[in-house]
Amino acid sequence: MDNEQIIILSNREIETMRGACQLAAQLLAYLEPLVQPGVSTLELNDAAEAWTRQHGAKSAPLGYHGFPKSICTSVNEVVCHGIPNAKHLLKDGDIINIDVTPILDGFHGDTSKTFFVGEPAPLARRLVEVTEECMMRGIAEVRPGARIGDIGAAIQAYAEAQGFSVVRDFVGHGVGRIFHTAPQIPHYGTRGKGRKLRSGMVFTIEPMINIGTHEVEVMADKWTALTKDRQLSAQFEHTVAVTKDGVDILTLLPDLVTA
Ligand code: MF3
Ligand code: CO
Ligand code: CO
Repeated sequence: MDNEQIIILSNREIETMRGACQLAAQLLAYLEPLVQPGVSTLELNDAAEAWTRQHGAKSAPLGYHGFPKSICTSVNEVVCHGIPNAKHLLKDGDIINIDVTPILDGFHGDTSKTFFVGEPAPLARRLVEVTEECMMRGIAEVRPGARIGDIGAAIQAYAEAQGFSVVRDFVGHGVGRIFHTAPQIPHYGTRGKGRKLRSGMVFTIEPMINIGTHEVEVMADKWTALTKDRQLSAQFEHTVAVTKDGVDILTLLPDLVTA
């Protein structure tokens, strides 16, 4: 609903949330080198599940509304919610979004990236680069007093200027002790519209950008969402907190510079 209560986290709660979010980011970094031709999406899932447990966390997707696995693996024309499968082997030139959500100390850290399997075709590379830039342009709008519509407007303007389209059927979301809560964060929209952001709000920005039509369909498994025209889709996701004067990207790993 449009007037649903948006939870405001205290600074202490945000620091606990940061722990879950940093673990999520570290999990993606752990998985990245495993993304190779010939690896199955189930092998990625099982590596993620084991790593998550070893780090004292739980995989939120496992059993969530009946989702059968621990992570989402969305390859090529799959927009989101791809289900890891032993028979699905990655091949050179694929793109794969891996979406992870560990629960640590009661809080969810939700992040995803799209990786290249071997060498991408030029258009696939362009799509993935544009999608990450879309996410960062959305994040750059976040500050107290800004409107939710400012985020989607920035994302949509950039995606469409590059000739791509923005998925409508899946949106960013409030996140914390609850996996998916208010507010919804569309990745399209109108500047100045929507609810006002306040310090202490925590939500995801997770644009799905398509080469062709923005329309998606969901497969008979009730989860796998794919582009209607079967062209490529890419996605990136960060969990962010609204601060006193801007934004804190909770799932961004610090740059470790080695001199
Ligand atoms: N992590 C996904 C998101 O970004 C949600 C996955 S729900 C699942 O919101 F059930 F498919 F795992
Ligand atoms: Co996610
Ligand atoms: Co999310």
